[in-house]
Amino acid sequence: MKIGIAGTGRMGAAIAARLSGLGHGVTVWNRNPDRARALGLPVAESPAKLVDASETIVSILTDAKAAGEVYAQLLAGHAAGKLFIEMSTVRPQAQRDLAAKVRASGAAFVECPVGGTIGPAKEGKLFGFVGGEVADVARARPLLEQMCRRVEHVGPVGAGASMKLAINLPLLVYWQAMGEALSLVRHLGLDPARVVDILGDTSGAPTMLKNRGPAIAAALAGKEGGPVTVDIDTMRKDLSEMVEEARALGWAAPVAESAMKCFSHASQAGLGKRDCVNIPVNWSARPQKL
Ligand SMILES: NC(=O)c1ccc[n+]([C@@H]2O[C@H](COP(=O)([O-])OP(=O)(O)OC[C@H]3O[C@@H](n4cnc5c(N)ncnc54)[C@H](OP(=O)(O)O)[C@@H]3O)[C@@H](O)[C@H]2O)c1
Repeated sequence: MKIGIAGTGRMGAAIAARLSGLGHGVTVWNRNPDRARALGLPVAESPAKLVDASETIVSILTDAKAAGEVYAQLLAGHAAGKLFIEMSTVRPQAQRDLAAKVRASGAAFVECPVGGTIGPAKEGKLFGFVGGEVADVARARPLLEQMCRRVEHVGPVGAGASMKLAINLPLLVYWQAMGEALSLVRHLGLDPARVVDILGDTSGAPTMLKNRGPAIAAALAGKEGGPVTVDIDTMRKDLSEMVEEARALGWAAPVAESAMKCFSHASQAGLGKRDCVNIPVNWSARPQKL
């Protein structure tokens, strides 16, 4: 299949590698062209040309502002009859706004925000939270199943965004909670790998600790390494979307709101572009009175 990837950031690049590795004809476009050229795949000159060259267009961009700007340019291409799969983490209304514009241009739209980071994206092991019309989701499903270990169609467009914000809330709060937990035992002077192992072998541990525990322990020991998986600014953006969505629904999200303040504090301390392991590392080293 001829697939266009709009946005070759960390996730878009990993998804492009996955799909081209399966034999699809993948063309890429990125605002910063160097990031697209680095992939060794055909690069479209513009979003409109990406659409012209593709049957299905996959987008994964920072936030709603980025998605809005990129879709305005994508839809200048020959979109009619094509399928758009939008995978950014944004609020439900942002996905519904994009869907209306895509449908008005005669194309189909499915949202599929995902759980899982770069490793699972490269291996086709993401968890997809799909929103869309039944026929459009059926059309997208074979491709979604090549990107995801599990595909859950949870309702019309917007439902996938709601589910993605829900699954990310306890995860992001845990990153901050772990920093606070570590601050309680720092004075014991134990080997960080041992402390992380103890925390990971208890009922309070999420799956994330099994996957990222060694990276957290290394960072605690001052040996942060490997590529950034997700940066602190992106997680802060997700928390802000959760808080705003809860407010729009008429609720409060006090735990997410507190976590957001802590993530903002880390961003202001200059850690915004660093990997999320720096949330617990930074907090446990310098607990704050916020
Ligand atoms: N990283 C993860 O583990 C992970 C996991 C699940 C979901 N997500 C979600 O996936 C999305 C992408 O995350 P990521 O980690 O891949 O981020 P990233 O590496 O920072 O990439 C962001 C992408 O958005 C593009 N972009 C930002 N603003 C733009 C604008 N105004 N116009 C055009 N393009 C713009 C960037 O282009 P430039 O290169 O030109 O800046 C880049 O292609 C986010 O919504 C994130 O919440 C991330």
